[in-house]
Amino acid sequence: MRSKIGYTIPNIVFLLFLINVVSLLYQFCNAESEKVSAVFVFGDSTVDPGNNNYLPTVARANFPPYGKDFVNHKPTGRFSNGRLVTDFIASFLGVKENLPPFLDPTLTIDDLMTGVSFASSGGGYDPFTSQLSGALTTSQQLDLFRDYKRKVSMAIGKERTDDLIRKAVYIVSSGTNDFAFNYYGAIVVRRTAYPTISSYQNFLWQNIESFLQGLMVEGAQKIGVVSAPPIGCLPAIITANSKDPIHSRKCIERFNSISIDYNKLLENNLKGLQRWNTRIIYADIYKPVMDMVTRNRQIDFEEVHRGCCGSGLIEADFMCNQNSPVCTNVSKYVFWDSFHPTERAYNFIFKSLETLIRQYIG
Ligand SMILES: *[C@@H]1O[C@H](CO)[C@@H](O)[C@H](O)[C@H]1NC(C)=O
Repeated sequence: MRSKIGYTIPNIVFLLFLINVVSLLYQFCNAESEKVSAVFVFGDSTVDPGNNNYLPTVARANFPPYGKDFVNHKPTGRFSNGRLVTDFIASFLGVKENLPPFLDPTLTIDDLMTGVSFASSGGGYDPFTSQLSGALTTSQQLDLFRDYKRKVSMAIGKERTDDLIRKAVYIVSSGTNDFAFNYYGAIVVRRTAYPTISSYQNFLWQNIESFLQGLMVEGAQKIGVVSAPPIGCLPAIITANSKDPIHSRKCIERFNSISIDYNKLLENNLKGLQRWNTRIIYADIYKPVMDMVTRNRQIDFEEVHRGCCGSGLIEADFMCNQNSPVCTNVSKYVFWDSFHPTERAYNFIFKSLETLIRQYIG
């Protein structure tokens, strides 16, 4: 009797110990698989940290006053006074402080391994949009991602690279230029080929779909696709479409409804692209931008319809430069130049996406 109990109790203790070890191991492995390895970004000037500095294009922002509030007040090529949403996301995920451009030749393997941006200012989902401004098309950006994989594979081996690729977060942000510069721009090529805006939006979707499929083939498993902003609230669009743009400025509803229609199409179609091992999420930025512009929820931006750089009515790219006057307090502005948000506005957009990002990586 005695010896039997003495024999059983240590067994139970050992069993409990084993259960503990197994559950600890399980938690450890889970935590490991949840850690984001890197952030990779594709798209236009909203997420280009300076790839265009290495391309023959005028769509650049690597001179003052761009970057006036960035690290060391450095103009990097980011179309803002400071950091972009993707910089905030990269530091939130703990991969790095700011996301560099892939085309920067000084990047080390360590820099590469935590992610880069392949985005190119002036680009769109429509290859013709990118060609208009000398920007990289999305398929060229995907080619660069393939170059990236080859380069990193050579340094750390295929297995580790595949692992890095699988555990990374991918962000795609584009589309505004397709409408603002291309379809509704001076050149009529696309309006002739696609007489209705909805036929053009369907064409854009075909481009988005083949790009995302290409990205999944390369191993992407967590992809966030960013919506269009309220295009009718961009200062340059207000200026070009108002009767008295100097004295009476308000968002152009016609353009905002284009964004709304496009966003619906995007959100719906993305659902159809889900794979068993891939999560694609739709990231809405229409609402946070609209909230800022309409001063919803007591967000204290004083100037919501003009950029901080120059007159704030038309300047972007080379037109916002060393000779442009700059507003006295950039934090009061939603827009830095006539197309792009200020760092404070980008930070607000990032905060509005924080919950979504948390759910998405969990
Ligand atoms: C700039 O504007 C922000 C937001 O309105 C405000 O909090 C800050 O105090 C202002 N800074 C200066 C120097 O006036």
